[in-house]
Amino acid sequence: MPIDLGIDPGTANTLVYEKKRGIVLNEPSMVIRSRKTGQVQAIGNDASDMMGKTPDGMQALRPIRNGVITSFGGTVELLKYVIKKTVPSSFTRVRVVICVPCSITEVERRAMIEAAQTAGAREVYLIEEPLAAAIGCGIDISQPHGSMIVNVGAGLTEVAVVSLGGVVVSQSVRVAGETFDNDIVQLAKKKYNMSIGDSTAEQVKCDIGSVYMHRARETAEINGRDMATALPRVESFSTAEVREAMREHGEAIVDAIKMALENTPPELASDIMESGIVLAGGGAMLRGLGRLINVRTEIPVYIAEEPMECTAKGAGMSLDFLLEMNRKSRFL
Ligand SMILES: Nc1ncnc2c1ncn2[C@@H]1O[C@H](COP(=O)(O)OP(=O)(O)OP(=O)(O)O)[C@@H](O)[C@H]1O
Ligand SMILES: [Mg+2]
Repeated sequence: MPIDLGIDPGTANTLVYEKKRGIVLNEPSMVIRSRKTGQVQAIGNDASDMMGKTPDGMQALRPIRNGVITSFGGTVELLKYVIKKTVPSSFTRVRVVICVPCSITEVERRAMIEAAQTAGAREVYLIEEPLAAAIGCGIDISQPHGSMIVNVGAGLTEVAVVSLGGVVVSQSVRVAGETFDNDIVQLAKKKYNMSIGDSTAEQVKCDIGSVYMHRARETAEINGRDMATALPRVESFSTAEVREAMREHGEAIVDAIKMALENTPPELASDIMESGIVLAGGGAMLRGLGRLINVRTEIPVYIAEEPMECTAKGAGMSLDFLLEMNRKSRFL
């Protein structure tokens, strides 16, 4: 019996969904290898545990950025690892459906297919990430009804209008989770003359970050390093100043949505006005983002139930659907 896997190789995390078992893997998209021999030392969780603690001779890499391969060898290793970890026997026939951005080029598509084949997959199909997200969060994409999905990942936000099993309009912007982390790093630098790490910034974003006004007044104690004295320092950041630092990029996501709406045929636009916009991806959990989009567009906004998992899930569920729709070739 072949096993069908849905794989979402994200900038930050790689997720694998198997139809019978659900999400079977969720690990950082990270590979550590020796600079000298190129030999892989650790992948996924193990690699992330070693992050920042590796000796000079080792290199930590994220082989995929915004859905596009930046290291072919690293991607093959990562995919090999996830297939091996989720498929019990090497004799099992593995079919994979991999999420890719709508904006991917033909060369990049071929590279992804080749990497998955090299990693051991017998059959490889690609699916646009927002389409997978739509399937994963239960939208019936086969209907002649327009749905808007906004996938806010780590490096990229993709806005797509889907109808009749395909993406009708897509718009992407390189503003997503990591952009907001960087806004907080810049805030620390400019306002407090303090340097903080990316993971500290991400923590602050998840704890007190917001892109829309809300009542709770919180603060977060942040550990960093004074840029003048190079000594450790603790500073207290308020929600208001963090919100101000992230404001511009929240609006950039709104602008991408507005642009997609402008390019949407009127019949589909009226479907969206009625049924709303669905937010997916880890960035969908950023506080206030749904509210900001709702206020700026006057369209109802919903956050997918498992925003970080719905793309891998949708990819895993899509194979039957693709075969049913007899449109397999479109994804090859
Ligand atoms: N509670 C939260 N609040 C705000 N942001 C969050 C929260 N939880 C996760 N994130 C952010 O979600 C992002 C990761 O989302 P996701 O796993 O969808 O990205 P990815 O698929 O790896 O990236 P991409 O799709 O851009 O390649 C990170 O930037 C992370 O900081
Ligand atoms: Mg993603």
